[in-house]
Amino acid sequence: MLTERQAREKTYYEQYALTFDPTKRIDLSPVEGKEQRPWNSYWRTYELSKRHYQSIYHTPVSLLDFGCGPGDNALRFSKIGYQVTGFDICEENVKNCREIFSLYPTDESARFVVCAAESLPFPDHSFDTIVGIDILHHVDIAAAMNEIHRVLKENGIAIFREPLDVPLLDRLRNTKLMKKLFPNTPSLDHHITPDERKLNSEDLKLIRKMFPDMEVERSLILSRLDKFIRQPGDKRASWLEKMDYFLSKLVPYWSYLGGAAVIIIRKKTLMSFIPLLPILNLHQYF
Ligand SMILES: C[S@@+](CC[C@H](N)C(=O)[O-])C[C@H]1O[C@@H](n2cnc3c(N)ncnc32)[C@H](O)[C@@H]1O
Repeated sequence: MLTERQAREKTYYEQYALTFDPTKRIDLSPVEGKEQRPWNSYWRTYELSKRHYQSIYHTPVSLLDFGCGPGDNALRFSKIGYQVTGFDICEENVKNCREIFSLYPTDESARFVVCAAESLPFPDHSFDTIVGIDILHHVDIAAAMNEIHRVLKENGIAIFREPLDVPLLDRLRNTKLMKKLFPNTPSLDHHITPDERKLNSEDLKLIRKMFPDMEVERSLILSRLDKFIRQPGDKRASWLEKMDYFLSKLVPYWSYLGGAAVIIIRKKTLMSFIPLLPILNLHQYF
């Protein structure tokens, strides 16, 4: 039985998913090429996923694509080498995922499930890695974090890429004039659902309470302007994103204006506090 919010998200995405063309070429360069773009939150998420994969010595290495959408990210994780499980509340998205995986051969098996983030049908401690892209801001975060904590293995890592609320800038963004010039009301065209909302400091606090080992990397400051000056679909690196990245390193608190975050959380056990185990990478065996 879905909550009202879940039902609205599902209805929205059953429509939105029909606009996705699974036969369109999927860009695998963020995981297959040598190039890295630490200034781009999506590329950074793939890079961290790849790095975590390479640090694990058992096989297969399992990854849960949390709110997988149409499956292009799941394919990227699979190309890294992960055994991917993806879930989404939207059946049409799960169909798209299966179609993508039938078009692209992968070495590892993948499975896709229709379910809600707030009640997952997986046993405790099932996954080495959980990655979610643009998903926490669509769900009940407290309930979803409980499930993440439950299904993630001890010493596992979870990585989320999410939009962040920046009170000062968002207040400006939501003035009548700005809304008129650049509408941000719910619609299929703008890909905005009635219930989504950017993560705020309270959400980050809640996540940190459950996972004290948490890092937040913020980006998207000047590069907010990219959507007005770059051609849609331009795949080249953005010089505004690079500027943000370097300014964040040089100017204190600059990154606090960031409208996007990569959130990295680790599920620690008592064993991981024994100093030599993490250093020798042995903690994954406990
Ligand atoms: C912005 S899309 C992101 C999809 C995918 N991660 C990507 O990057 O393409 C949000 C996704 O969340 C899914 N969704 C929304 N609410 C959900 C819930 N409560 N449980 C599971 N999936 C949900 C939607 O169906 C949609 O696929």
